[in-house]
Amino acid sequence: EKGGYEHFMLKEIFEQSRSIRDCMRGRIYPNEGRVQLGGIKEYADKLKNIDRIIIVACGTSWHAGLVGEYLIEEYARIPVEVEYASEFRYRNPIITEKDVVIAISQSGETADTMAAIEMAKEKGATIFGVCNVVGASIPRLTHAGVYTHAGPEIGVASTKAFTAQVTVLTLMAFYMAQQKGTLTQAKLVELLTELDCIPEKITKALASNELIKEIAHKFKDSRNCLFLGRGSGFPVALEGALKLKEISYIHAEGYPAAEMKHGPIALIDEEMPVVVIATKNSSYEKVISNIQEVKARKGIVLAIVTEGDTEVRKMADYCIEIPDSSEAFLPLLATIPLQLLSYHIALLRGCNVDQPRNLAKSVTVE
Ligand code: F6R
Repeated sequence: EKGGYEHFMLKEIFEQSRSIRDCMRGRIYPNEGRVQLGGIKEYADKLKNIDRIIIVACGTSWHAGLVGEYLIEEYARIPVEVEYASEFRYRNPIITEKDVVIAISQSGETADTMAAIEMAKEKGATIFGVCNVVGASIPRLTHAGVYTHAGPEIGVASTKAFTAQVTVLTLMAFYMAQQKGTLTQAKLVELLTELDCIPEKITKALASNELIKEIAHKFKDSRNCLFLGRGSGFPVALEGALKLKEISYIHAEGYPAAEMKHGPIALIDEEMPVVVIATKNSSYEKVISNIQEVKARKGIVLAIVTEGDTEVRKMADYCIEIPDSSEAFLPLLATIPLQLLSYHIALLRGCNVDQPRNLAKSVTVE
């Protein structure tokens, strides 16, 4: 059942090139520059004129929502707010019939997310679901939706469901851009052609497994760990930190790299590992100066870099390479080494990787 892997989590991490491929199947037509999302096609016209989107979710799914915000705003130019379902439901949020709410949930059973949906529905919003478990409660509550099709996720820490959620949100962003005309046909052809190659790039990113296993030895006795990223690398940092704390019980925090100097920099000393998303994209130079700030205080830097990078390599203590890609697809690739890192650290610490203490696969209580 674990397909030869020692744990479900490892199996699910290694399944990601396939699960992302499954998620895109029948939905992208790269040569035509076209996205087809059968689940929300009845709302295709509505999407041309919406003023804003609210994304509600919990935990890892909330992190996928933050990536979605970045992509939808960038490509479809629709304002997006991302809310923790538990906070949203207990406020008195302003929601109208013009709003589209996207609820993201692997299990489709999360109590807070369900309650947020019910409230938004009562106020007249259109609700889309992004769920993995077919026929679960959330897909039944929503008006329409797009399944992630990642297959059953057994490990309590979400891995392949997260990358599938990000894939669906990427498709939704391109679909909305197509409806609104905010991307040219040529640009859509280019982006979808690249997206089509992401599963192969995931396989390449997974090839760092042995290297990551070695690096994990250096980090296994840490008591704290900081994860930094900018732009769409920021939600990746949050997700990296959540994975590490969930399964290894090391305290970890994700931060926007530039926020470090507003507080967390006080934590940095020779015992503080800092994982930095430092790939070659629009914030590359800025991240380099953030790494210098960490090194100046003797922090230990593990950088996730673009294949062939030489600049960051001069400064960082450890580097893990991922294939080059447009910024749009960075979260899908940069997440892979962080999943493997937390897996190997947890294993070395003797933790129960698939069933971490105090956690449940679906949180059906508020
Ligand atoms: C993290 C994790 C949790 C879930 C959260 C939401 O690895 O598994 O943070 O992401 O409980 O669950 P779903 O997506 O089922 O609503």
